[in-house]
Amino acid sequence: MGEFIMEKDLYILGIESSCDETAASIVKNGTEIISNVVASQIESHKRFGGVVPEIASRHHVEQVTIVIEEALQQAGMQPNELDGVCVTEGPGLVGALLIGINAAKAFAFANSLPLIGVHHIAGHIYANELMQPMEFPLLALVISGGHTELVLMKDHGSFELIGETRDDAAGEAYDKVARVLNIPYPGGPHIDRMAHESDGAVDFPRVWLEKDSYDFSFSGLKSAVINYQHNKVQRGEEINPYHVAKGFQDSVVEVVTAKTLHAAKEFGVKQVIAAGGVSANKGLRTSLEETFKKEGIPFYVPPLKLCTDNAAMIAAAGSKMFQAGVRSDLTLNGHPGMELISWNHE
Ligand code: KG4
Ligand code: ZN
Repeated sequence: MGEFIMEKDLYILGIESSCDETAASIVKNGTEIISNVVASQIESHKRFGGVVPEIASRHHVEQVTIVIEEALQQAGMQPNELDGVCVTEGPGLVGALLIGINAAKAFAFANSLPLIGVHHIAGHIYANELMQPMEFPLLALVISGGHTELVLMKDHGSFELIGETRDDAAGEAYDKVARVLNIPYPGGPHIDRMAHESDGAVDFPRVWLEKDSYDFSFSGLKSAVINYQHNKVQRGEEINPYHVAKGFQDSVVEVVTAKTLHAAKEFGVKQVIAAGGVSANKGLRTSLEETFKKEGIPFYVPPLKLCTDNAAMIAAAGSKMFQAGVRSDLTLNGHPGMELISWNHE
């Protein structure tokens, strides 16, 4: 009789604390969510109109052990049933990152588990692996509060930056425009909703940069919105915030869709995926879905709760790194400006 080799399942604990969500999750074989716990601090940051780093750190300290315990409890698992611990290493707020990292180190040390530091954006991209397998070459549109990038992947763990924002991230522009309109933080979801309810749109510029550039720029658009508002106020006229929201969103969606499509065709990708908080945007999702359907290129975007910050995405990326043999040690530190570097160097 031939030898029977049983493949052991891989259970990875992910921890995320780079910004204003404290999160822990257990993922099986890099693709199946066993538990996914997110403690949001949005309510505490709302009255300041943005994330206050000191407040974020204090919340992470209070929440981190609780979310890890809850992730284990929801999974009905003990620490000794895990194969590794993954944690966001960067980019993010340094104080916030360090709390997740120290919790992960302590957990890994206490339970003799391997530790892996994960790039936050690799996490956002790998949120897609929790839904369907990646096919290469693949184009990832990473669009969040801190990032707007087009990343080409020729294999797992291989990241090639082909375009990025030269100033504000799209989510940052959303949140700043929301502030101008007196909309509570985070403004993205509100502007999205208002754009859908609007019966008109202000005509704001489209910023294309040089021909064939895959880079983005949103600060000019943001300034155009601010100027529009100031001019109206000076003339004693009322602005229609719905028309502003729709005009702003139309500009973002048109440029992002066109550049993503251009890159997808240029690099002949088999799949386009979206990742990051702004990929939760209904206008953008619809535009990308319709565009790529017409082109016959498969386009995927994870469900809303996997678009915004969570730990399942960190565990998903970390599982792939684990399988590729990547390990960190107990000197792991937070890297606020960390670059997205490939772990697959073939
Ligand atoms: O990925 P994420 O949770 O955190 C970062 O890593 O940045 O993204 C947060 C950003 C915020 O700027 C928020 O306003 C934006 O994502 N966002 C949206 C929507 N939902 C969240 N922006 C536009 N439309 C939305 N529906
Ligand atoms: Zn994020």
